[in-house]
Amino acid sequence: MLADTFDCYEALGAPVTVLKPLVPEARCPLPLADLDALLLKAHELYRSARPRSDAADARARRVLPGGNTRSVLDFAPFPFRVDRAEANTLIDIDGHRYIDFCGNYTAAFLGHSPAPIKEAIVAALDRGWALGAAHEKEVDLAELICARFESIEQVRFTNSGTEANLMAIGTALHHTGRSTVGVFDRAYHGGVLGFGPSVDGPHHPLNVPHRFHVAPFDDLDGLESLFADPDLACVVIEVVQGSGGCRPASIEFLTELRLRCTAHGVLLIFDEVMTSRLAPGGAQERFGVVPDMTTLGKYLGGGMTFGAFGGRREFLAAFDPNQGGALTQAGTFNNNIVSMSAAVAALTHELNPEQVAAVNDLGDDLRDHLNHTFTLADAPMSATGVGSMVCIHAVDDRLVELLFHAALHDGLYIAPRGFMALSMAITAENCDALIASISDFLTSLDQPL
Ligand SMILES: Cc1ncc(COP(=O)(O)O)c(C=O)c1O
Repeated sequence: MLADTFDCYEALGAPVTVLKPLVPEARCPLPLADLDALLLKAHELYRSARPRSDAADARARRVLPGGNTRSVLDFAPFPFRVDRAEANTLIDIDGHRYIDFCGNYTAAFLGHSPAPIKEAIVAALDRGWALGAAHEKEVDLAELICARFESIEQVRFTNSGTEANLMAIGTALHHTGRSTVGVFDRAYHGGVLGFGPSVDGPHHPLNVPHRFHVAPFDDLDGLESLFADPDLACVVIEVVQGSGGCRPASIEFLTELRLRCTAHGVLLIFDEVMTSRLAPGGAQERFGVVPDMTTLGKYLGGGMTFGAFGGRREFLAAFDPNQGGALTQAGTFNNNIVSMSAAVAALTHELNPEQVAAVNDLGDDLRDHLNHTFTLADAPMSATGVGSMVCIHAVDDRLVELLFHAALHDGLYIAPRGFMALSMAITAENCDALIASISDFLTSLDQPL
């Protein structure tokens, strides 16, 4: 069933059925009927406190299929509608305040509305937008990005991470003259690039029609058949699978993948749309493995629409007519002045090494504390991830959904599927509050219904 297979992906949203093996072997603490009853109760409690969001949902469903235009934002019984956001907090139209641990699925890394980004956006707007002409901000931004990521000598901008991955893959196919695209199970590289937990599929029904070879993630043996394909053009990997449940690849696997790509003339593409937050120079710096091309998105645009693909000059030369390049890259908003200005401000004022390290250390601490809490309560749950990317798993998905509702009730917003992306506005006290809420939730599971 699709819901079972794909619900871990941004494209389809909803709670997850992923990564049971990461949860210690354990029986579910409650009979299944009790879990269903508890969920019903949680939904009713949620609904009764949010009449405005309830009404807005009914209105939305008439004109937006499913009531939304970004599937991952939906959850039962209906999503709260945000009125405004401030630093580490979302405030909904019913007046509830939530500490935001979801962080717009990594895009709100800087927290909400940081002053330097707002100033840069206002300054850009003061000088006019929808320019339809080249400007200097895109050059400023390209210089900042090339200086920051080891694999990127030249870069081009897009409107989203999906588009960045599509462009990087297209560039690799063109460069190599081959047609197979290597990817991994549970990989999510955008709305039309989603892969299921089984390498044999099913995969996302709306995927673009490339010839994909889906190999098992972090599995050295799986590389044999992947590289046996003489038509393999590129391998795309997210070295810590974010939407796939915050699963990190081992250094051993990445090193072997790097060696094999070089030996076979295959382009190694790191999708760093999420993972670039893990160190100033991205996961490639943190893991010490340098790809041929890198894709970026999310928070690097300072919270505005953003994507980028870059790599060594020889790959990007295809876009340079002076070097005989035959490729063009269209996109009305590729260099839109608001995103470019916000991104320059983010890289100049916010994303300094100390702040990036601090938020990732906080994530490491939170994950350790969560796992300690699960162990103490003998709960069949675990927290995975690296740095500021954290995901909670349970032996039964309904436990994650219950935990999500319990946290919401306490004014703490994690993604319904247990995913968290800490922002620079989250404090150690906020993390303590989350751990206390989860601890109370685990205790409540032992109480009679
Ligand atoms: C690893 C990864 N790649 C690509 C994308 C797609 O980015 P966008 O939503 O900007 O198209 C996402 C979005 O969640 C992502 O997590």
